[in-house]
Amino acid sequence: MDYFTYHDAELFAEEVPVRRIAREIGTPVYIYSLGTLRRHFRVFDQAFARIPHLICFSMKANSNLAVLRAFVNEGGGFDIVSRGELFRALRAGADPKKIVFSGVGKKREEIEHALASGILMFNVESEQELVVLNSIASQMDKRAPISLRINPDVDPQTHPYISTGMKKSKFGIDIKRSMDGYRNALALSHLEVVGVDCHIGSQLTSIPPFVDALSRVKIFVQALRNEGVRIRYLDLGGGLGIRYREEEPPHPEQYAEALIEELHGLDVTLILEPGRVIVGNAGILVTEVLYVKETEEKKFVVVDGGMNDLIRPALYGSYQAIRPVTEAGNGKIVADVVGPICESGDFFAKEREIARPKPGDLLAVMSAGAYGFTMASNYNSRTRPAEVLVDGKDFYVVRARERLEDLILGEVIPPILEYAKGSEV
Ligand code: LLP
Repeated sequence: MDYFTYHDAELFAEEVPVRRIAREIGTPVYIYSLGTLRRHFRVFDQAFARIPHLICFSMKANSNLAVLRAFVNEGGGFDIVSRGELFRALRAGADPKKIVFSGVGKKREEIEHALASGILMFNVESEQELVVLNSIASQMDKRAPISLRINPDVDPQTHPYISTGMKKSKFGIDIKRSMDGYRNALALSHLEVVGVDCHIGSQLTSIPPFVDALSRVKIFVQALRNEGVRIRYLDLGGGLGIRYREEEPPHPEQYAEALIEELHGLDVTLILEPGRVIVGNAGILVTEVLYVKETEEKKFVVVDGGMNDLIRPALYGSYQAIRPVTEAGNGKIVADVVGPICESGDFFAKEREIARPKPGDLLAVMSAGAYGFTMASNYNSRTRPAEVLVDGKDFYVVRARERLEDLILGEVIPPILEYAKGSEV
């Protein structure tokens, strides 16, 4: 459930008219509802209240400092994948003891920083990474807490780009070789084995693949314990899907119910790394209609937001609902909703039936709170949009719209290219 609703044909974010935010802050603009963020976090967290657990929000989905702080205030931790994410998490006030570090390509300096910060656990994705981690920990005179990310070879039945737990994917260590991996880890003096990790994919809309993965991991945890290895944490990753269109994803309570049942007395602290399910429907992208263009074949609604602001439709062909910010009652048209970028892939919707818009109207691209701003770029030298957080009747700019100067930050014209005006070239 989210707090983007219509009152008298006007779309509101909680108690603030979206139109007002667009007028004051400009477009395109991301708008997040704090009430929705909190609600989603609490529903998810409380679903696991019966067992020892830790929710490590996967901040690749949305890493705005204000959003992160909201979760810190709820007692949440973070799943990070880079030094930049560690930097953000700590800036937002995260407890390092609630941070897990995933990712197949951790660099030495990233590992050093995470180790120095005292994070909860490194989710290690290869045997070579174990060796690197051990050598860094030894140099720093520390012991690195680790789990191995196990690839359980389960088909999550989702988009291939966001499916990660099958044998052919680059992620994790093949479950058949994991026991050897753990034996190697145990033999390394500066590692401390504390957990087992697994993440099978994103936008999963049914429970069985999760349970299937958990059942395999569970057998594995038991096998480790039989060898005398103390496993404290079982990290099951993220992946629970949301409704973009007509999907019927399980409610977090059903998801938790199924996992808790499958865990069945296994004495571990369960770690979960939800991203999309917490923030996806807590954010929208508001864009202004610039032109409505009709060709013989088609109609195009050209808006001021583009694939650089929200790349999901272009990259995955994914569906994002598009709603008018003011319902005008002018009937419907079928059109492509496209951005200003010089690529045919720059669209938010294709052949979509939408309320007939006119230039100057505002459209809300729904379900844009996850993998929206975090995947935005400066392509076509476009400044990235502002981000706004709404709380009841109030709203706050939590990231200013980029300025032109931000676009060239760090760029230098070397002296060899400089010439005095009027001199011979
Ligand atoms: N944990 C790990 C190790 C992950 O790789 C991911 C997402 C998550 C947790 C969070 O998954 P979630 O709960 O959000 O499904 N850009 C794509 C999604 C990429 C997901 C990458 N990994 C999209 O826009 O659909």
